[in-house]
Formats: sequence, structure tokens, C-alpha cells
Amino acid sequence: MKKSEAGKETLCRRLNPGLSGRIAVTVLAVASVAFLPAVTVAQGVAGDAAAGKAKAAVCAACHGPAGVSVNPAWPSLAGQQPVYLAKQIRLFRDGVRVEPTMQPFVQNLSDEDIDDIAAYYAELSPCP
Ligand code: HEC
Repeated sequence: MKKSEAGKETLCRRLNPGLSGRIAVTVLAVASVAFLPAVTVAQGVAGDAAAGKAKAAVCAACHGPAGVSVNPAWPSLAGQQPVYLAKQIRLFRDGVRVEPTMQPFVQNLSDEDIDDIAAYYAELSPCP
């Protein structure tokens, strides 16, 4: 197994703990839902993940249908921080960060589109 794959497996094991861990995660998740809207606004990305899913259809060709890429040249986006995702997509759209193959897919996105797409990818699991 390559070193990068071993790292991914460790990460996914941490994210998919045993039963007791699952209960703890569930309790935490339920508790955090109550605070989620406030947190999302505080982070500066208040995207609509459902709308983002439709807008991200064109991204799947490279970043994978569930945001997990199978090509080492294309980063996985699933589970990434929404603020980070939105910032990077804006940088690509505005030509500050350059990736010629991706530029055509992001150049016409509005700020709202970007927040929606970022919210969508942030919700996906990096360990499908
Ligand atoms: C043709 C393939 C392709 C398509 C389609 C594509 N991307 Fe990308 N994307 C890339 C590549 C390649 C990179 C890595 C660029 C680099 O090395 O800096 C990237 C990087 C990114 C990053 C930065 C990830 C990070 O960890 O820094 C984000 C965010 C992103 N893409 C979002 C999108 C979104 C949103 C769409 C659809 C609107 C999209 N991409 C469509 C190829 C693609």
C-alpha cells in the first residue's frame, strides 16, 4: 500500500469509529445541528447545499461524483472546510489561482453559486 493510501485509511478509520464512537458522534452531530446555522453564518459561507449539488454536476467529471477523486492530479473536495472551498473557487474564478483545465467550469459562477457548491462539498463524506 502506498504511503498516501495508508494515510487516507487512517483518516477514514478515525472518521468511522466503532459503535460507541458512533453514538458519541451522533450525540455530537445532533447537538451541533442546533448551532449549525449560527456557525455557518459565522464562517462566512451560508450556502444552500441542495442547490450546490445541482450546480456541482459539471465538477464531478474530475472531482468525482461524490467529491472523492480517483485521479491523483485532481483533489478530493468531500468534507473540506466550506470557507476554504469557497475561497479557492473564487481564486480560480478570478484567475488568481490558475488551473487552465478547470477555469472554463468556474469562470461564470456567481458568489452565491460558489457558496452553494462549497456547502454541498463540505457536507459530503471523504470516506464514501
Ligand atoms: C477538467 C477537470 C476539472 C473540472 C471539471 C473541475 N476541476 Fe476543480 N480542480 C481540477 C484540478 C486539476 C485541480 C488542482 C489544481 C491545482 O493543482 O492547483 C482542481 C482544484 C480544485 C479546487 C481546490 C482544491 C484544494 O484542495 O485546494 C477546488 C475547490 C475545485 N477544484 C473546485 C471545482 C469546482 C467547484 C468545479 C465545478 C464547478 C471544478 N472544480 C471542476 C480539475 C477540475
